[in-house]
Amino acid sequence: MAVSFRKATLGDVPAIQTLISDSAWGLARVDYSDAQIEAALQSAWGVDTQLIRDGTYVVADCERKLIACGGWSWRRTLFGGDAQAGRQSEALDPTCDPARIRAFFVHPAWARRGLGRAMLEHCEQSARARGFRCAELLATLPGERLYRVCGYVSQDARAYPLPNHQTITFVPMRKARI
Ligand SMILES: CC(C)(COP(=O)(O)OP(=O)(O)OC[C@H]1O[C@@H](n2cnc3c(N)ncnc32)[C@H](O)[C@@H]1OP(=O)(O)O)[C@@H](O)C(=O)NCCC(=O)NCCS
Repeated sequence: MAVSFRKATLGDVPAIQTLISDSAWGLARVDYSDAQIEAALQSAWGVDTQLIRDGTYVVADCERKLIACGGWSWRRTLFGGDAQAGRQSEALDPTCDPARIRAFFVHPAWARRGLGRAMLEHCEQSARARGFRCAELLATLPGERLYRVCGYVSQDARAYPLPNHQTITFVPMRKARI
């Protein structure tokens, strides 16, 4: 089955939302409770349409179905969908700021087939082409396993607030040379 990567469009948003939800329920339950996943899907794990408008969000299709998504950004916001509080849309300075790696989700039926790694390499290459030399992200616990093998170094895990009085553990990670 042929997998192709392309830039996401705003027309993909409903399908991306479904993909994020399928990915979270299928792949994040080993690390998080159902209440955490439900709350994260309302904030931290929503679609960030700014990335799509910037042309820095990628989707993978197979037989006209979205099977993976992920992106990068030259803006300061580190994580979260449109509904996430505290967004910072100002441009980063590639000479001193790390690019942001953002919102990777793979459909459970396609996990561990290299899509996450392929999207990450594509994002790093795009960030490099724009002058960035390092990258950072806020990883989920499932995400940390991917990013670690791709050269990202974890900092101390932290609890982040979510809707419905929930909190969730995310891990800041950084790669010094992309
Ligand atoms: C994290 C995620 C994007 C990884 O996507 P993926 O396409 O399955 O990752 P890859 O197949 O490219 O994995 C590359 C390597 O990362 C590591 N890795 C990825 N998932 C892993 C897991 N569940 N357990 C252990 N190692 C893992 C492995 O070393 C793997 O190489 P291998 O399969 O040859 O051993 C996917 O699990 C996912 O969508 N999770 C739910 C949503 C989420 O938490 N997203 C991260 C947001 S920061």
